[in-house]
Amino acid sequence: MAIRPPGDGQNDFVVPDALPVLPLRDAVVLPLAAVPLAVGQARSVRLVDDVMRGNRLLALVAQRESKQDPGPDDLRQIGTVGMIHQLARTPDGSIRLMVQGIERIRLVDWVGTEPYLVARVSPHPDQVDQSTEAEALRRAVVDVFRRLVEASSELPAEVAIAAENLADPRHAAYFVASIVPLDAAVRQEILEMDPVSAKLRRLVDLLQRELAVRELGRKITTDTEEKLSKKQREYYLREQLKSIQKELGEEEGGGTEVAELRRRLDEAGLPEQAKREADRELARLAGLSAASPEHGMITTYLEWMANLPWNKLAGGTIDIHHARRVLDEDHFDLEKVKDRILEYLAVKKLRQERGDEARSPGSAATAVPAEPPHVTGDNPAREPILCFVGPPGVGKTSLGQSIARALGRRFVRMSLGGVRDEAEIRGHRRTYIGALPGRIIQGLRRAETRDPVFMLDEIDKIGADWRGDPSSALLEVLDPAQNHTFADNYLGVDFDLSQVLFIATANTLDTIPGPLRDRMEILTLSGYTDAEKVGIAQQYLIPKQLAAHGLAANELAFDADAIRQIVRGYTREAGVRSLDREIATIARKVARRLAEGQTDPVRITAARVVELLGRPRFIDEVAERTTRPGVATGLAWTPVGGDVLFVEASMMPGSEERLVLTGMLGDVMRESAQAAVSYVWSNAEMLGIDPKIFEGKTIHVHVPAGAIPKDGPSAGVTIMTALASLALRRPVQNDLAMTGEITLRGKVLPVGGIKEKVLAAHRAGIRSVILPRRNERDVEDVPEDLRRQLAFVLVDNAEEVLAHALPPASAPVTAGRA
Ligand SMILES: Nc1ncnc2c1ncn2[C@@H]1O[C@H](COP(=O)(O)OP(=O)(O)O)[C@@H](O)[C@H]1O
Ligand SMILES: [Mg+2]
Repeated sequence: MAIRPPGDGQNDFVVPDALPVLPLRDAVVLPLAAVPLAVGQARSVRLVDDVMRGNRLLALVAQRESKQDPGPDDLRQIGTVGMIHQLARTPDGSIRLMVQGIERIRLVDWVGTEPYLVARVSPHPDQVDQSTEAEALRRAVVDVFRRLVEASSELPAEVAIAAENLADPRHAAYFVASIVPLDAAVRQEILEMDPVSAKLRRLVDLLQRELAVRELGRKITTDTEEKLSKKQREYYLREQLKSIQKELGEEEGGGTEVAELRRRLDEAGLPEQAKREADRELARLAGLSAASPEHGMITTYLEWMANLPWNKLAGGTIDIHHARRVLDEDHFDLEKVKDRILEYLAVKKLRQERGDEARSPGSAATAVPAEPPHVTGDNPAREPILCFVGPPGVGKTSLGQSIARALGRRFVRMSLGGVRDEAEIRGHRRTYIGALPGRIIQGLRRAETRDPVFMLDEIDKIGADWRGDPSSALLEVLDPAQNHTFADNYLGVDFDLSQVLFIATANTLDTIPGPLRDRMEILTLSGYTDAEKVGIAQQYLIPKQLAAHGLAANELAFDADAIRQIVRGYTREAGVRSLDREIATIARKVARRLAEGQTDPVRITAARVVELLGRPRFIDEVAERTTRPGVATGLAWTPVGGDVLFVEASMMPGSEERLVLTGMLGDVMRESAQAAVSYVWSNAEMLGIDPKIFEGKTIHVHVPAGAIPKDGPSAGVTIMTALASLALRRPVQNDLAMTGEITLRGKVLPVGGIKEKVLAAHRAGIRSVILPRRNERDVEDVPEDLRRQLAFVLVDNAEEVLAHALPPASAPVTAGRA
């Protein structure tokens, strides 16, 4: 008796379409089992001879009844494909064979009956289920088999050990079924059962009975012959498991730990698939020694499963009025953004109400659509993901928190900055040492509910490399058609993300992968004016910092002037982060004085600010830098907000006329600088510039690298102005900044980021801004008080730029065109 090595499972063997059929009388060959057969009939001898000349494969099929020369109708439909391993001829002409069963087959059709039966066959694999029950049954079979072997004289002890070493329930079933003495009909019955667990159950039954026969001799009562009832069977299986555990010395520690995990898993309300997996792992855990490395891995896994919020929801229905109130409570102004959020929530509320109706399993009477409306493929109407785009400190994250509060949901944040590996989103397979779930599942565990507001922070900083593209994993996470069955590699089972409200944030849209961007609805937050910052500080930041430092409202107060002083002299930002920090510094100092015994309330004036924070850090840089010719103030858009930049042009004697560019090195930038230089050179006379001034000179233009403009060419007019200023030896007007692209012929073309740039200009103390005329409409986006404070000069061409930037009034050389 022999068995194929474990692991030699089904599916890796290709069953031929047609096979010669060897009818078996009073014998069944099970898959994986090696069985001796005697062949005497002439046509069977012929069959064996032919098979031995070929691939040695044949179909081994039992007869329904024992008779000579069975025809097609006398055979069972289910049999086994087998291979002849050994062959010995006896003097009387018959043959002794050793055949090896390989896999179950079904006879589909007859191909021929002469000189022997040949049938068309198809594979008929067993139904392998990975349930706890199959595993428990396997152990039960192996255990009772061992006892049977002990009680019997015919079966050698090795077969019990061999059975114990077969971890695969299917292997164990066929092995035991082929070794214990059974009627051919019973073996056939086991062969024909599809689920492996059914085979095992039948075997437990049979073996138990056989054991009872041996142990109790002939004194069997009628009820032991009856099938064990389900309850008894369960009891029996548990006893078996216990005895296995006892044998492995794990009854005490291991047993209670497993029981505790089982209890927690029961409470966690796992869905069907997850429950099956958890049960399977629990069963494995029960069979492992606490010292084995797998024990720890499985325990960690089950801890994760038990701690995930499979069925915990926090949010009820969406109340739009309440949401409005909360958003207003938490944030100053931002009216447009708040309106968009409320519209989004309103749509969500409607979808939720309608969608739930369609899905409700209780309302059997109503016609239930096959799928909820938003599940269909690329329905353009599917719910977008809100994405807040803007520089740091403008309230993107805190808006997300506020939405969570408005909905009564938990808030979790996951930073995507520097995430390059898909596994960070989706986790590593459990087979990796130290594997963990991905960050989505980690976030949900932190949320403790499965409907949190989940912020995907810095989605513009996501990367991709050889470890896979995390953005494609994210796409799946965000897709309502897919995310209700999100499969984390570590969990290995689906988790339903459909109730999660995802919100993204970014500093810039440029680096967000296209498909992700298409899924998002963009809400832009450009930054605040000084006046808005003062309002935010008074109404939100100061009260927050007072509370954080244990100060009462009457113990520390700020004058509006003081706040303005902090904004202008100590911060230089689009948002309010540094402002918040400086206010915290002052609060800390005041708290300390109060703690030291000072009792008078403190009022912070502009003068007090300098006393507490030191000399202002940001002086009037623009005025200072533009005192000499050759420097012009430009405006740049950057991911952290608008900024002013200073373009510096200088001239050096050189052997040939040459342009050297340093600082920012982008191609677009170089080209636009070239265009600016060409324009100034070729129009020198018209601009009042001595054409000889550039002769034999190397011109050096430096554009600071710190401010990377989004639109490379937008520094064109600034470079041109710096050059003209240098050539005319006249400084640029010192409260002026500009932006715009320039062509070789001196036309000024529109550029992007106007609002951010204007905010930055105002922050830097600029009074007037030169903009391309075709950007006129963008000026409407600029907050009104800034529009009143700043002068906008709309231009079509280079001459107009220079007329404003280098006014001829105090000019030593008056331009010819004036
Ligand atoms: N409009 C606003 N009203 C009230 N507080 C604000 C506003 N904008 C920003 N803040 C506050 O500024 C701080 C920084 O905001 P944060 O949300 O972290 O910015 P971001 O995520 O855009 O970088 C937070 O304390 C936030 O509450
Ligand atoms: Mg943030």
